[in-house]
Amino acid sequence: MYLPGHPKYTLYHMVSLTNKRILLGVTGGIAAYKSADVVRRLRDAGAEVRVVMTRAAAEFITPLTMQAVSGHPAHRHLLDAQAESGMGHIELARWADAVLVAPASANFIAKLAQGLADDLLSTLCLASGAALAVAPAMNRQMWDNPATQANLATLQKNGVRIFGPGSGAQACGETGAGRMIDPLELVTLTAAMFETGELDGLDVLVTAGPTWEPIDPVRVITNRSSGKMGYAVAKAAMEAGARVTLISGPTALAPPARVECLRVMTAQEMFDAVQARIAAANIFIGAAAVADYRPAQAAAGKIKKTADTLQLNLVRNPDILASVAARTPAPFVVGFAAETDDLERNAVAKLQAKHADLVAANLVGRPGSGFECDDNRLMLVEADGTVELPLLSKERAARELIHHIAVRYHAKNPAENPRLAHRQ
Ligand code: CTP
Repeated sequence: MYLPGHPKYTLYHMVSLTNKRILLGVTGGIAAYKSADVVRRLRDAGAEVRVVMTRAAAEFITPLTMQAVSGHPAHRHLLDAQAESGMGHIELARWADAVLVAPASANFIAKLAQGLADDLLSTLCLASGAALAVAPAMNRQMWDNPATQANLATLQKNGVRIFGPGSGAQACGETGAGRMIDPLELVTLTAAMFETGELDGLDVLVTAGPTWEPIDPVRVITNRSSGKMGYAVAKAAMEAGARVTLISGPTALAPPARVECLRVMTAQEMFDAVQARIAAANIFIGAAAVADYRPAQAAAGKIKKTADTLQLNLVRNPDILASVAARTPAPFVVGFAAETDDLERNAVAKLQAKHADLVAANLVGRPGSGFECDDNRLMLVEADGTVELPLLSKERAARELIHHIAVRYHAKNPAENPRLAHRQ
């Protein structure tokens, strides 16, 4: 977020949510009457909006009103055969770039903190990898209650943004904290979830995907890697304001918008592409699963299965990450480490051996995390300590990683942007 005095402060405040899909959750509380205005303001900023209402929300504002302002029927029931055959709850969860629950009642915040999934909205929040924000709205006693505060602390720890509350006169006649913040302010904060400006003006070079090392014209040696994490990192860096170049091995993924994508096949080609671009980079993120070895010579024709055994002579590929870290001056260097065991010890060893500033490590070879799936649990290892992120969608893990990198980059390069150097 740009602060007053920053040249882009004014620009930033012309909020844009163009092409962003926002799922607005409405829970039961008198502030629900303002939700229609939230939808209108989100759409004014360019967002596509779908509304999910809890049963209690429909007591305060009609689904028809929300349909009229959003342009789509409000979703209300988890087990609605008609809705499930159209955009069911899993599709909705995947559809959203961000989920904003406004107003979020004390009860809903408690459910979210516990990971309950007993209605459509709570299920969606659990099933979605999108950025999640809640705008609390409740009586001030409920807000001050230690149970509510503990639930909010849990949400914050899990990466959920808390927007507000404001304070002032309440519908119940009391005065204090607990009012839902203004719809326009909610839209500004929602946009800020994407456009953080934390890497504004910086060049970021990202490698992603596997490499293919030809054995013959039809066979390759490769690593298991979908490229999803690297692509998500490139997108998150772009959304943080960076100019991003993505050097990708073979993947089935479409490059993120506003990211320059160069496709390569082998480790040597990836090495060459990185060397050609690295001088301009402030930050290098090596998310590619580079094949460490390649066949010394690829056969010109298809190798036939004539013998019972076949020997391949492999030679080492250049280490792209280490070569970047060895430059003077070197950019801020981030490596990835996929390990099957001893995660932290192996990551620390890699950090030291390659002279990286940060290694994002994750366990692989177990269900639900690592390659070829949508979630990841990252451990961020640096010389002065380790931070463990929770299990997150790759998109959210990438955003958290980029935030962490930005904080560290600006701390290391305070002259570039003194304001951001102090951010934590
Ligand atoms: N890397 C690279 N060039 C290579 C090999 C790896 O840039 N030739 C980068 C990867 O993009 C990743 C990090 O180095 O950021 C992974 O380190 P590496 O030592 O290659 O991991 P492993 O191959 O898993 O190492 P080992 O097999 O020794 O565990």
